[in-house]
Amino acid sequence: MNKKNGKVFVWPTCTRIIHWTIALSFVASFVSSLNKSYLHYHVAFGWIFATMLIYRIIWGFAGPRYATFNTFKLNLSDLRWYFQEKIVDRWRKIPAGHNPASSWFTLIVLFFGSIIVISGFLLYGIQEGGGIFAFLNVKYYMHMIMLFDIHMYISYFLLAWVIVHIAGVLIEQFYHKTNMVFAMVTGYKKAEGEDSDITFLCNIVSYIFIAISFGSFLYIVNTDDNIITKPTFVPIDYRIEHKIYSTECGDCHKTYPPYMLPSRSWDRIMKDLDNHFGEEITDANISRQNRTLILNYLSNNSAEHSSNKIAFKLVNSLDNEETPKAFTKTDYWREAHKSINPSVFKSKKVGNKAYCWSCHKGFENGVFSNEKISIPDIK
Ligand code: HEC
Ligand code: HEC
Repeated sequence: MNKKNGKVFVWPTCTRIIHWTIALSFVASFVSSLNKSYLHYHVAFGWIFATMLIYRIIWGFAGPRYATFNTFKLNLSDLRWYFQEKIVDRWRKIPAGHNPASSWFTLIVLFFGSIIVISGFLLYGIQEGGGIFAFLNVKYYMHMIMLFDIHMYISYFLLAWVIVHIAGVLIEQFYHKTNMVFAMVTGYKKAEGEDSDITFLCNIVSYIFIAISFGSFLYIVNTDDNIITKPTFVPIDYRIEHKIYSTECGDCHKTYPPYMLPSRSWDRIMKDLDNHFGEEITDANISRQNRTLILNYLSNNSAEHSSNKIAFKLVNSLDNEETPKAFTKTDYWREAHKSINPSVFKSKKVGNKAYCWSCHKGFENGVFSNEKISIPDIK
């Protein structure tokens, strides 16, 4: 039975909510990935995308008519015929449900979407040391760049794929005049077939799922220590961890985390204290004995011994011979900060490009995370 003449009710409300939530959470994740300091939001949007993807997969087995995978048309000759017919017969008949192109489209979104989600959560654990996979950081941090590339390139691919989809829908809308754009809004498609019906139970389960997804999104956005974004790198009090380092080297500037530079750099810095960035530090300032203790501490905890991402990325970016005397003198640092106007570093609120803590909150306590980046308002 069809409720409306010439139209089939194909997409019940919850199916439409899933469709638009997947689409919008993907766009929101993409946009929020463009600025490092929005990482927390990026992960939260990614969470919605992830839960909705899982839901869509369950829907593919237990959902209403037209949404289930067994109604998908995956035969390649059907796919070819679909495009041939599109060209030869502008006013062809449209069957309700997924056509061969949209069947393939959906499967590919689910497949690559899942890879994006899995690589994203792994990346957050392995590179940022946060969330459910944080425990993998120490063991797998050296794979962070590969994981990042997988996550990023597949996301670009999916974006391109979505654009193809939108182009297809627009061709339907304006060339074939099937009013396809509004099918996912109203639920009705100008097509042939039976109306879809959805059971009460299916509806309730869907809305509970949607509520959990949105509820947990709000929870993630508003908390730091939730299971999805909980950081494992905790602030270190260098006064307790190494009193001598903290008092001797925390006098003119705050303490720099030892993982910030490779041990050969610390070696060089400690040898050149008599000309330390224009300051002369003498034996009377820091005794020989303390210098040895400090250098031991710095070398034992240097970048090569750390799974922190900035340590790994720095070491990875240096040539074997290269021994930078400062983080700010490395290409990695320059590259990461090239979008920042140099006058910002000289402003009163920042003071010096070497005062990392002005923008990387908590850096003097060894914490480095994108969520903690904020450039002070210098006006
Ligand atoms: C007398 C003051 C003074 C003391 C003591 C001092 N520093 Fe410095 N340090 C400076 C100055 C000045 C700079 C350049 C940045 C700035 O203008 O603050 C600097 C920069 C650095 C940098 C480079 C930061 C970057 O990436 O640009 C490192 C690393 C550093 N100091 C380590 C140490 C260590 C290790 C000790 C202890 C052995 C130490 N400092 C003690 C004055 C000092
Ligand atoms: C004026 C503020 C400011 C100062 C000072 C500053 N940074 Fe940054 N830093 C930023 C911003 C903003 C970004 C993100 C830039 C972007 O994504 O375009 C960033 C990015 C980085 C990154 C790249 C992270 C990644 O994911 O690869 C590293 C590493 C870094 N900063 C380290 C440092 C260190 C170490 C210092 C001190 C020696 C420092 N920064 C000083 C603002 C600052």
